Amino acid sequence: MKEANFKTDFIVIKALEDGVNVIGLTRGTDTKFHHTEKLDKDEIMIAQFTEHTSAVKIRGKTVIQTSNGEMSNEN
Ligand code: TRP
Repeated sequence: MKEANFKTDFIVIKALEDGVNVIGLTRGTDTKFHHTEKLDKDEIMIAQFTEHTSAVKIRGKTVIQTSNGEMSNEN
């Protein structure tokens, strides 16, 4: 993804089970958790990378769509 697109592109995360965690990590020298969003089965989160968020860690079974394609962390 080009840097210029990080405020326009969205990632779509669909939870396949209850209790999925979508964790935002800070941009800059320190890489820390700054937000945890909990999703239950079939809930969808649509999110962007921002000046505050450089990475997202996802715990739990989901389907994820990004500009890099669709992937699942389900077995
Ligand atoms: N306040 C956060 C931000 O602007 C909100 C956010 C954006 C976020 N993208 C995220 C939180 C991804 C968790 C995961 O950066």
